[in-house]
Amino acid sequence: MPVRSWFATQLYCAPLQRTGLARLNAELAVECRQVRDYDAAGRRWSAKHYPGGYTSYASMNELHRFSSTFGGLEQKLQRHVLAFARHLELDLRGRTVRMSDCWVNIMPPTAAHSLHIHPLSFISGTYYVATPRGCPGLKFEDPRLSNFMAAPPRLTSARPAHRAHVTYPARAGNVVLFESWLRHEVPPNQVDDERISISFNFNWS
Ligand code: NI
Repeated sequence: MPVRSWFATQLYCAPLQRTGLARLNAELAVECRQVRDYDAAGRRWSAKHYPGGYTSYASMNELHRFSSTFGGLEQKLQRHVLAFARHLELDLRGRTVRMSDCWVNIMPPTAAHSLHIHPLSFISGTYYVATPRGCPGLKFEDPRLSNFMAAPPRLTSARPAHRAHVTYPARAGNVVLFESWLRHEVPPNQVDDERISISFNFNWS
C-alpha cells in the first residue's frame, strides 16, 4: 500500500524493574494506605471529586519529596521517562527533567476516574501497585477524535491502531507512560478489591 503512518501517538509500558517487584509492591501498598489514613484533607477532597475512592492528588502530591520509598520509586521512574523522551526524540539537551508531582490513587469497588489530561507537565504516567484480577485498565482516547466530524465509524474489526480508544490493562509492577496532553480515564472498578496505583508528572526546565 502506498500509505504510511504519520503523527502517531506513542505509549510506553514496561515492568519497573526485572526482579523484586512483589516485595516492592507490598511495601508500597502499605505506604499508600498509610497516606490515605493520615490524609484527612485528601479524604475530604476525594469524597467530592473522586467519588468512592481516595486520591492524594490535591493534598499530598509531592510524595517523592517526603518519603524514601516514594523517593526510590522516583529514581526508578526517571530512567523510564528519559528512555521514553529519547524515543520521542525530544530535544532535552542541557535541560533538567524532574518529577513534579507524585500521588496515590486507591480505587475500591465502583470508583472511577473520568476523562482528563495532566496540565503543567510533558510526560505523565502511572505505576501499578495492586491490581486485583478483573480491575479496570487505563483507557486512552485518540487525540484527533474531536476533529473527525463527518468521518464514518471504523469497522469493528479495525486493527487496534485505527480504533478511537485503546485500553492498557492495569498490571502490578508495570509503568505506563504517555504524553501529558493525551486524554485518558479509568472505567469503574467492578471487582471486590482495591486497585492501587501511583500517578506522577514530569516536567522540564
Ligand atoms: Ni491521569
